[in-house]
Amino acid sequence: KPMKDLITTEVGMRDGLQMESRFVPTNEKIEIGLGLIGAGLRRIEATSFVSPKAVPQLVDAAEVIGALRGRGATLAALVPNLRGAERALEAGVDELVMFISASEEHNRRNVNRSIAESLETIAPVAQAVAGSGRGLRAAVSTAFGCPWQGDVTPEEVARVIEGFAAQGVRAVTLGDTTGMATPPIVRRLCDKLADWFPEVELTLHFHNTRGIGLVNVMAGLDAGIVRYESALGGLGGCPFAKGATGNICTEDLVYMAGEMGLKTGVDLSSLIALAQRMQAILGHDLPGQVMKAGPRL
Ligand code: HMG
Ligand code: MG
Repeated sequence: KPMKDLITTEVGMRDGLQMESRFVPTNEKIEIGLGLIGAGLRRIEATSFVSPKAVPQLVDAAEVIGALRGRGATLAALVPNLRGAERALEAGVDELVMFISASEEHNRRNVNRSIAESLETIAPVAQAVAGSGRGLRAAVSTAFGCPWQGDVTPEEVARVIEGFAAQGVRAVTLGDTTGMATPPIVRRLCDKLADWFPEVELTLHFHNTRGIGLVNVMAGLDAGIVRYESALGGLGGCPFAKGATGNICTEDLVYMAGEMGLKTGVDLSSLIALAQRMQAILGHDLPGQVMKAGPRL
């Protein structure tokens, strides 16, 4: 049976830049965003509409969305609450991504709320999005493990998904905030969730913190998941999780997919050039590997 395409959402401008100590000027963000679209990325999580006190790096969210809209890519952005959802709708975001952690301690540190309190904020956000023609996605952080709690059970993940599903949300991203996923954990969680929530479409968001991000993608593909999130150059990390490091790297993922005969629609050499440009903008090395070694001859 032929495999489907591998669909990747680029999250470097959000998960990546939120973690940088330096503020990247808005025009440079827009340059990178346009470069991503030019390289063939059709889904870009471009920014967050969170409190600028929590994440000052993304204070220019509305300007970035304004400049990238209508250029052929679906633009997503994180929102933590109704205030963020209203800002995102106003800016013209196509898909709002509301995030809640599966573990209590990470949720508290990330959004200053208990999980129960966060679950209560889904309904007002879903109501604001309803009828706007925009999408609403759920992101469950610490779904594969938490840097404070340790193991996270499938039941804890399911509790958060249930809260979203009750408001009609069908698109769910499982976040591996600090790279605690392993192939058996990926397989077990994906199989259970597919069983419990057959109507939900899963996307996997791995961080390469322990060096097995792409191995976890292989486990996800084996479980039938075709949607992934990745970051240019392997940027990324949650500032509210100890020990957090970069997402899986988009060029490395696109390279692997190509070798496996999975279509991504992304031009690898354009993407490598863009990762090098991002490295120059940031002024420090990025962890991506194909950007350094180049593609196979
Ligand atoms: P709080 O202080 O408890 O909230 O923060 P508050 O409601 O009391 O508001 C405090 C101030 O922020 C007020 O302003 C609000 O108006 C303002 P003041 O009256 O003091 O001037 N405010 C906002 N401003 C702009 N946009 C908003 C907004 N909301 C309130 N949306 C809050 C709670 C959730 C706001 C804060 O903790 C926050 O913004 N946290 C963001 C955390 C974050 O961005 N984390 C990183 C992303 S998650 C992640 O990386 C994981 C992921 O990649 C998946 C994975 O890897 O697992 C997604
Ligand atoms: Mg992340």
